[in-house]
Amino acid sequence: MCGIVGVVGRGPASAPLLDALRRLEYRGYDSAGIATLEAGSLTRRRAVGKLANLKSRLDSEPLSGRIGIGHTRWATHGRPDENNAHPHMVGGVALVHNGIIENHRELRNELKAAGAHFTSETDSEVVAHLVSRERKNGCEPVAAVRKVLPRLNGTFALAFLFEGHENLLIGARKGSPLAVGYGRGEMFLGSDAISLAPLTDVVAYLEDGDLAVLTREQIEFLDVNGERLHRASAKIAFSALAVHKGEHRHFMAKEIHEQPKVVGQTLAQYIDRNRTIRLPSVDVDFGTIDRVSIVACGTAFYAGLIAKYWFERYAKLPVEIDIASEFRYRDVPFGAGNLAIFVSQSGETADTLASLEFAKTHGQRVLSVVNVQTSTMARASNIVLPTLAGPEIGVASTKAFTCQLATLICIAIAAGRSRGVLSAEDESSLVRGLAEIPSYMARALELEPKVHELARKISTASDALFIGRGTNYPLALEGALKLKEVTYIHAEGYAAGELKHGPIALIDKNLPVIVIAPSDRTFEKAMSNTQEVIARGGPIILLTDQKGASLAASSACSVLELPDMPQSVAPLALAVPLQLLAYHSAAILGTDVDQPRNLAKSVTVE
Ligand code: F6R
Repeated sequence: MCGIVGVVGRGPASAPLLDALRRLEYRGYDSAGIATLEAGSLTRRRAVGKLANLKSRLDSEPLSGRIGIGHTRWATHGRPDENNAHPHMVGGVALVHNGIIENHRELRNELKAAGAHFTSETDSEVVAHLVSRERKNGCEPVAAVRKVLPRLNGTFALAFLFEGHENLLIGARKGSPLAVGYGRGEMFLGSDAISLAPLTDVVAYLEDGDLAVLTREQIEFLDVNGERLHRASAKIAFSALAVHKGEHRHFMAKEIHEQPKVVGQTLAQYIDRNRTIRLPSVDVDFGTIDRVSIVACGTAFYAGLIAKYWFERYAKLPVEIDIASEFRYRDVPFGAGNLAIFVSQSGETADTLASLEFAKTHGQRVLSVVNVQTSTMARASNIVLPTLAGPEIGVASTKAFTCQLATLICIAIAAGRSRGVLSAEDESSLVRGLAEIPSYMARALELEPKVHELARKISTASDALFIGRGTNYPLALEGALKLKEVTYIHAEGYAAGELKHGPIALIDKNLPVIVIAPSDRTFEKAMSNTQEVIARGGPIILLTDQKGASLAASSACSVLELPDMPQSVAPLALAVPLQLLAYHSAAILGTDVDQPRNLAKSVTVE
C-alpha cells in the first residue's frame, strides 16, 4: 500500500511533505520517511511507526531542502524497521514507492552479481539501484528512469530525486494511483488529490505508463518513449474535506454517529419528489441484461452480498458476486453487455480496480458505487453512483458501509421497476421505508448504553461468533469483521443454518454468540439455531426488533431491541449496534481504535 508525496517548492519542503503524509496515513503507518536535497546532496530522516515519530525526529534533526519526497509505509516486503523505511537512497538517487515490484528477486540477484550492496529487504530498493546504475552509465535522470521502468513487473507509483538536480522531481505510474498538483512557482505530487489539499486545488492524474517531470515552473507528462502527453488538470473542491473528531474520542465513534445524516444525504440523491427512485446517470437498460456481477473487498463486499438478496428479490435478476482478489483470476463466463457493479469506499483498492478492468475487457458496463469521487475507480467507470458518507478516517469502515447499502438498494429497486417486476405500488412502499432509514438508525444509536454494557463481556472473551440468516448472514460476517479489526478478538460470522455443520463444536460458556434475527421470514429458523446454542451453554446476545424480542422471550439471552421496521431497510439499522459493539469493546480494551495494528485504510496492493 503506502502513500507517496513530493514537493519541488519555494520554502523548506519538509513541513508540506509531513502535512501531505498526514493525509496519506490511511494508506499505512508502519514507518515514514522524508528525503530532501540540501545544497545538492540528499539527506533523509526515517522513523518506525506512526508519522508522529517522524515528526519528533524532524523536530530534533530538521531538514532544510526546498525539494523533497516522502513516504508512509504499509509493510509488504521486509519488516517495519528503519532500514526498510523509504525513501531509499542509492548512488545519488532517492525514491519512494507505492506498489509491488513482482520480479524484485530476479532483479536483486542480477544487481548483486554486478556488485550492488543492499541495505533493505524491500522490493523497492532494486529500483533505486537500477536507476542509479543507468545514471552511472551516463544517462540523464529522465532517460535513466525511462530505461528502468520497462524492466519492472508489478505495480508502482514512484517519485525520484536526483543529487545535483535541485529543480527536478520525477513521478511514474503503473497500476498505483498518482496525482500531481500545480502551484505558483512550486509543484507537487501525491498518491491522491486529498494529500495535496493544503498545497493546491489544481490537480492532474497520471495514467498507467505515464511519467511526470516536475520543476518549479511546469509539469511535463511523457510516455515511456519520451513522447509528450497531454493530461488535463482540474480544480478540485476540497471544502468538504475538513475532518475533526468533534465531541467524540475516536473517528470511528463519530462516523458511527454520523450515519443517520450521511445515509439520508446519500438516499436523497436517488429519491425524487414522486417517491420513486431516480438514478440520473444510469443509462442501463435493466430489461435487456440477464445478470449483474458485484465485486468488492472486505466490508464493501459484505454490502454487495446484502445487495445480492435485494437484486434477486426486487429485480428478479441473478447476481454473480465475488471478492475482487478471486474474481479477476476466475474464468468468469460473462454474458456480453451485462452490468458489473464495483463497490468501494476509497476507489483505490488494487484488487477491485484490477477486477474492474477485467470486467471492462470482457465487454461489461461498469458501474461503481464509490465514496471518493476523485478516485481512480470513479474515473475508470462508465457510471458512478456516489455515496455521500464524507471522508471516512477510522480504518474500520462504518458509515461508508451503510451508505453503500443505501445506494445498492436504490439500484435494485430501479432495476426491478425497469424490468417490469416491481409494481409502482411496491416501489413506493419500498421508498417509504427508505425515507425512514435515518430515523431507524437514530433509534439504533439509542441502544449505545446497553451495547456498552454488553461490550464489557465481549472484551473479556477470546473468541466470538456472529450468526444470521438471509441478509442477516452478510451482517454477521460484517459484525465479526468489525470486532476482530478493532479489538483483535478472534471472531467468525456464519450463516445460522451452517452452525450445526461444524462450528457448533466450538460452543461453550466462554464463546459469546451474537444472533442477528429481526422478525423477518427467517426468524423462526434463526430461533431454532439459537436454542441449539443455548442448549450447549453458549451465551447469546440477540439483536432483533420489538416483535422478535417478544417472540423470543428467553431469559437465556441478552437482547438488543430495535423498533419494528420493514425487512428491506433492516440491514442498515442492524449494522449500527454491531458497529457500536466492536467500537465499545475496543475502547474498553484500549486498542488503537482508529488505526488498528497491521491495517491500512486503502489497500493499494494486490
Ligand atoms: C473493513 C474495511 C475493509 C474495506 C476493504 C475495501 O472495516 O474497511 O475491509 O472495506 O479494504 O476497501 P474499499 O471500500 O476502500 O475498496
